[in-house]
Amino acid sequence: MIIPLILEYKTKGYEDMLVLRHKILREPLGLTFSEKDIEKDKGDILMALVLPKEQKMLACCIFTRVDEHTVKLRQMAVDREQQKSGLGTSMLSFAEYVAEREGFEKIVLNARKVAVAFYQKYDYKIIGEEFTEVGIPHFRMEKRIKMEKEKQQVVDEVLKYIDITLTPFGKPQRGVIDVEKRDPMYDGNGVVYMLSIFEKGELVNNRIGTYMVLLNKGDQAGFHEHGTKKEQELYVLVHGEGEYIERQGLDKITRKFNLKKGNVTSIQGDNNYHSIINTGDEPLIIFVVTTYEKA
Ligand SMILES: CC(C)(COP(=O)(O)OP(=O)(O)OC[C@H]1O[C@@H](n2cnc3c(N)ncnc32)[C@H](O)[C@@H]1OP(=O)(O)O)[C@@H](O)C(=O)NCCC(=O)NCCS
Repeated sequence: MIIPLILEYKTKGYEDMLVLRHKILREPLGLTFSEKDIEKDKGDILMALVLPKEQKMLACCIFTRVDEHTVKLRQMAVDREQQKSGLGTSMLSFAEYVAEREGFEKIVLNARKVAVAFYQKYDYKIIGEEFTEVGIPHFRMEKRIKMEKEKQQVVDEVLKYIDITLTPFGKPQRGVIDVEKRDPMYDGNGVVYMLSIFEKGELVNNRIGTYMVLLNKGDQAGFHEHGTKKEQELYVLVHGEGEYIERQGLDKITRKFNLKKGNVTSIQGDNNYHSIINTGDEPLIIFVVTTYEKA
C-alpha cells in the first residue's frame, strides 16, 4: 500500500528523497546537489509517497514557505518507471492537503515547460513569461487553494441563495475566484463584497462583470458616478431587496426605488450618481456589468 509521508531533514527518508530527486530531476540535466542545495531544504516541508514494506520511495516534493499566505512547491518528482500512473496526482493532492492544513492559501511554483500541462490539469495558472532555470524553460504558476476565512464565509453565505457557476466557452466551469472587501464602498454604510468570477483582463476591453454582495440590512454601495470614466453600468438584482437611489450632482436626490430580484438598473453620463442599500433580511446579491459608452 502506498502511503504519503512528511519526512524529517537528514534522516534515512530524506536520503532516499535525495536519491530520487537526483535520478529524476538532476542527473538528466547533468547536475548534482551541492551542500548549498541541501542546506536549502532545512526547515522546508519534505513530502513523499512510499511503499513501506518494500522501503521504496515512489514520489516526492517540497514546500518552501514564502510568507504567511504562500508556499512554493519544488522538487516534484515521480520515479521514472511509475510515471503517468497517477502518482504525480496523488503527490500533488497530498501536498495541497498539507498546505491547506498548515493554513496557507496559495501555492506557487516554477514549472518545467514539459510539466506545465500536468499542473494545468489541476488548475494551476501560468502567471508570467517563460524563463530559464537549471538550463531549461520554465513558467511561473500558481493556484489559490483557500480564500481567507472571512472571504470564504462570504462565498459560503452567498451560495446558500444562488449557484455561482461561470461557463466560459470551451473552458472548465468555475466559481468565485476572488473576493474583494470594500469597507466602506464609496463612503456608504457597512461593508460590500465584490465576488469575481472572471480573471483580470478576461473580458474584452478590460470590462467588468462581477457579483456585488451586501450581506446585511443597511449595507450600502455609496454614491458614485461613471460619467468621467465614460462607462455605463448595469445592476442585475439576483437575490434580496434594496433601495436604489439616483442623485444628480453632489446633493440633489432625484428618485428612489424599492428593487427586488429580477430588476435591472442602468446608469451613465456626467453628474449622475447612484447608490443601493440592502433593505431586506437576506443578502442583497447583484450582478454588475460595466461597459464603455459608445465613443
Ligand atoms: C510531471 C510529473 C510529476 C507528473 O507525475 P505523473 O505521475 O507522471 O502524472 P499522473 O500520472 O498523475 O498524471 C496525471 C495526468 O497528467 C498528465 N501528465 C502527466 N505528466 C504530464 C506532462 N509532463 N505533460 C502533460 N501531461 C502530463 C497525465 O497524462 C495524466 O492525464 P490523464 O489523467 O488525462 O491521463 C512526473 O511525470 C515527473 O516526475 N516528471 C519528471 C520530473 C518533472 O518534470 N517534474 C516536474 C518539475 S516542475
